[in-house]
Amino acid sequence: MDLENLRQNYTKAEFDIKNALENPIQQFEKWFQVALDAELSAEANAMVLSTIGENNRPSARVVLLKSIDEGFVFYTNYESRKGENLETNPYASLTFFWAELERQVRIEGRVEKISAEKSSEYFKSRPIKSQIGAIASPQSRILNNREELETLFHSIEKNYEETNFIERPKNWGGYRLVPDYVEFWQGRSSRLHDRITYLLKEHGDQRYGSLWEIVRLAP
Ligand SMILES: Cc1cc2nc3c(=O)[nH]c(=O)nc-3n(C[C@H](O)[C@H](O)[C@H](O)COP(=O)(O)O)c2cc1C
Repeated sequence: MDLENLRQNYTKAEFDIKNALENPIQQFEKWFQVALDAELSAEANAMVLSTIGENNRPSARVVLLKSIDEGFVFYTNYESRKGENLETNPYASLTFFWAELERQVRIEGRVEKISAEKSSEYFKSRPIKSQIGAIASPQSRILNNREELETLFHSIEKNYEETNFIERPKNWGGYRLVPDYVEFWQGRSSRLHDRITYLLKEHGDQRYGSLWEIVRLAP
């Protein structure tokens, strides 16, 4: 396999600091809409969530961005590996890679749980089988085999068919990463890529309420 000669020249677009919107969440929404409109081959809202675990070991996995308010919201099991990581170290990063657009977005900040009400509201909006799946899976724990998981799923499904009642488990819900660093990377030719970066200057509570310094980083 000749990996050393695998390379691409990026020529699709450019990103100049003079076109950067004042607030990185606004700028993200703009790029995100472009990614949605482009109907990319991969889910545009898939992002790599990196957390820090025991002994400062980093750990990363893909999750889905589910809403944007004053931060970036995703849902998971609070007792999963990522949940345990965030319990002891709430700092994390999100990475989006939109290959067809030759774009990467890096977001860093502190993660907090969203309200129980909002988590329950979203939980209820999911298809019933996804709700049951979330209840059935002891995420990140060792299973003896797949049957164990399917048995759990079917017993919860049976219970639901009898009672017509299902509730969000307390160990499942949303997290919000509130950004203090956001970087927009646009691939350019000859490796002279654009990296337009927002550094938090003053935190504000509302969606576009914070003050940011915008700088260009060397690629
Ligand atoms: C495209 C894609 C989307 C995913 N979305 C989620 C998600 O929104 N929430 C989630 O908990 N896991 C999601 N996963 C699974 C995670 O990557 C991971 O396997 C799981 O959350 C357990 O991670 P952990 O053991 O590090 O906590 C997704 C995986 C892929 C490939």
